Amino acid sequence: MTFDIAAVRDGFPALGRTLDGRQVAYLDGPGGTQMHASVIDAMAGFMTRGGSNTHGHFAASFDSEAVVDDARDAVADLFGAQPNEILFGQNMTSLTYAMSRALARTWSVGDNIVLTRLDHDANVAPWMQAAHDALVGVRFVDFDPSEGCNLDLSTLDLALDERTRLVAFTHASNAVGTITPVASIVERAHSVGALTYVDAVHFAPHGLIDVAETGTDFLVASAYKFFGPHTGCLFGRDEILSALAPYKLRPAPDASPDKWETGTQSFESLVGVTAAVDYIASLGSGSSRREKIVSAYSAISAHERNLANRFLAGVESLPHVTLYGQPTATGRSATFAVEVDGISSDTVAERLGERGCFVWAGDYYAYEVMHRLDRGAAGLVRIGFVHYNTEDEVERVLGELDRLA
Ligand SMILES: Cc1ncc(COP(=O)(O)O)c(C=O)c1O
Repeated sequence: MTFDIAAVRDGFPALGRTLDGRQVAYLDGPGGTQMHASVIDAMAGFMTRGGSNTHGHFAASFDSEAVVDDARDAVADLFGAQPNEILFGQNMTSLTYAMSRALARTWSVGDNIVLTRLDHDANVAPWMQAAHDALVGVRFVDFDPSEGCNLDLSTLDLALDERTRLVAFTHASNAVGTITPVASIVERAHSVGALTYVDAVHFAPHGLIDVAETGTDFLVASAYKFFGPHTGCLFGRDEILSALAPYKLRPAPDASPDKWETGTQSFESLVGVTAAVDYIASLGSGSSRREKIVSAYSAISAHERNLANRFLAGVESLPHVTLYGQPTATGRSATFAVEVDGISSDTVAERLGERGCFVWAGDYYAYEVMHRLDRGAAGLVRIGFVHYNTEDEVERVLGELDRLA
């Protein structure tokens, strides 16, 4: 299964833009993917036709209720879950704060939780702070910079014991691109009775999520990373979501998943979430939306693997550029952290930005990763590709890196 890259690019209004006569290349998102035209249209359509809060006795309110139901159905298809296991919030960070507060209510002094050095801080700090408040220990799984920045699962085995309540880890690193062995980590966590919380924010635009196959208890993603608007999407096993007590207002619903959604939802954004999932499905084939999504991700992965191979081969021939992370296209997303000899990451990003290549610099909140790599807040330059990027854009950014020598 492949897709027509020219047609894909036609669907993203921002991609054709020029800056000072130079066409802009959105490498690395940056810091978020571009929105597909169908998403923008769907959101504008909802806002144009009205909208209202839910639970009213009139058509606009029924419309908003259908919007929520549709978004649950869509994200359930994206994650391989059931619609009643999907809930929405402002972003991944807010959802993780909410879930950490609710889970911490079930922890006791002397328990421990396990986090990783490979994670974005949104899947570290909320848990550390909840553990601190609940007098619960925190243990870290390490990764090995000399081994392609893969998680060192022997340190997971050392961290786990019968008092471990949670293992929170990333599906893929937003800094060095490492993809983690989710099913294997879940199995190890479950063997001691711990729950698992997977951060799939970075992984979602690149690879197929399947919560049934991996067996995780929770998984969270953000639609602005998969061609939609800024909304967090969380999967939790129904029996766990139903049993837990969130911090919530008294008149708010008591049943899950509604009890998790504080205040009024961004209905226009939920329309966009559904459209983003439909857009991904449109890249594949099959009889159901889930089947189309599965097939779409195989085409996305093949395209990105090709871009990754080209980038890796090019970087290898640039002696002044150092790559952090896996030197091959397997076991990683097409997201590359690099350093240019003698030039700060901010300056590299600035120079590339002037030339129309939009990349990121710093730690991108991958605080633990950058400290483990001894890079601190100065961090590294991140150059990432998604399915709408082209081979020409890979060559273009390689050319610009070459010019920096
Ligand atoms: C891997 C990862 N996790 C979590 C986040 C935080 O997501 P949000 O902005 O939705 O809170 C990001 C954002 O860049 C990310 O890349």
